[in-house]
Parts: sequence; structure tokens; C-alpha cells
Amino acid sequence: MKVVIVGATGAIGSAVVNELRSRHDVIPVGKSRGDFQVDITQPASISGLFAKIGKFDALVSTVGHVHFAPLAEMTPSLFAVGINDKLMGQVNLTQLSTEYLNPGGSVTLTSGILSREPIRAGSSASMVNGALEAFTLAAAIELPRGIRINCVSPTVLTESMESFCPYFRGFEPAPAARVALAYSKSVEGHHTGQIYRVG
Ligand SMILES: NC(=O)c1ccc[n+]([C@@H]2O[C@H](COP(=O)([O-])OP(=O)(O)OC[C@H]3O[C@@H](n4cnc5c(N)ncnc54)[C@H](OP(=O)(O)O)[C@@H]3O)[C@@H](O)[C@H]2O)c1
Repeated sequence: MKVVIVGATGAIGSAVVNELRSRHDVIPVGKSRGDFQVDITQPASISGLFAKIGKFDALVSTVGHVHFAPLAEMTPSLFAVGINDKLMGQVNLTQLSTEYLNPGGSVTLTSGILSREPIRAGSSASMVNGALEAFTLAAAIELPRGIRINCVSPTVLTESMESFCPYFRGFEPAPAARVALAYSKSVEGHHTGQIYRVG
């Protein structure tokens, strides 16, 4: 399969590349690195990316930025960061990929554990992750030509604990290689409308 991975140069994305590249034609996409570049906050940039790549069988998205701050300090513009980047970036990737996905292809998005286990300063992340999971359920019943969609909702990565540790006390981290298996299940399996909770 031809698999486009947006966020391929990141902590999760690079593990997904490692998991899939021996079996598939993997196309790594980053913001500044990778074989192709895209800015997911700009729909025109996403359209340009897909036009360059052409038809493919699977889109994997391991991207998304949200602002972390105590709820009392959050403002509409700080909430807009996560809405425009992690949420609408992945919604727009989904929408704009459908004309390039081959019949029976798949979309795999990334949310995160904060949709179900909140932490302090994580209100935007929890909100955006919950919205992505709800979008996945809804899109699954409407995508055309047998195109599937799932969402991976990982716990904090072992590899990211050094920087995130103070925020995730008591959380059991998961190695990126184990998280990557959920993406393999989505791309190489037959499920749709699933939220794969890892950790
Ligand atoms: N790390 C964790 O513990 C963890 C746990 C649960 C959920 N998540 C979620 O998983 C996703 C990825 O996290 P990560 O830790 O793997 O991130 P990361 O290591 O910071 O990597 C981010 C990736 O996204 C790309 N990117 C950044 N901004 C972009 C933009 N505007 N348009 C297109 N690509 C962009 C980067 O490309 P360049 O390298 O070219 O800049 C890189 O490939 C995020 O949504 C995060 O919330 C992460």
C-alpha cells in the first residue's frame, strides 16, 4: 500500500514509519522535514501536498499542537490554537484526502489520553482530543467508496516522559513502538469508526 504519514518525523510518526515501511510504500511528511512538507493549519497547503503525491491507499496523521495552560489563564485565542491546529488540521486532512484515497482506503487520526483522563492545564487538549474522537465516529458512517477512519488515542510516550513527566505523574507511559501497533491495526486491518486507546 502507498501510505502517507503526516507527522512522520515526530516521536509517534517515526515509530509508525518504522512499523510500516518494511511492508508498504511509506511517504513521510513533516512541516520542515520528511520527503514532503505541509502546514496542516493551511487548507491550501494540504491540497497542494495531496496534488503533488497523487492517489494513495492510507493517510496517517500523527500531528497536532494545543496550548497547555491553567483553565483560568486560557483565552479564546489560546483555545483557538488547538482548534485550528490539532483539531481542524486533522479534520481538513481527512476531508481533503478523500478525493485522493483509493476505494477501501483509510484515514488514521491521533487524539490522546487526555480525552478520558484530564490533567491540570490540559483543558484544551482534552477538548480537542474528545472532538477528534467524536469526529471519527461520525465520519466513519459518511466517508465514500468504502474509505475507513479510526483514531489512535495514546497515553504519554515513554520517549516523551523526560519533558512531560511533571504533568503525567502516575500515568503509565507506553513505548512508541507499542503505540505504533495501533496505527498498523488501523491501516492494515478492516475496522472503521474505532478509537484505539493505547495505555
Ligand atoms: N508524545 C506523546 O507522548 C503523545 C501522547 C499522546 C498523544 N500525542 C499526540 O500525538 C501527536 C504527535 O505527537 P508527537 O509527540 O509525536 O509530536 P512531535 O514529536 O512534536 O512531532 C510533530 C510532527 O508533526 C509535524 N508538524 C508539526 N507542526 C506541523 C504542521 N503545522 N503541519 C504539518 N506537520 C506539522 C512535525 O514535522 P517537522 O519535524 O518537520 O517539524 C513532526 O513530524 C500530537 O497530536 C500529540 O498531541 C503525543
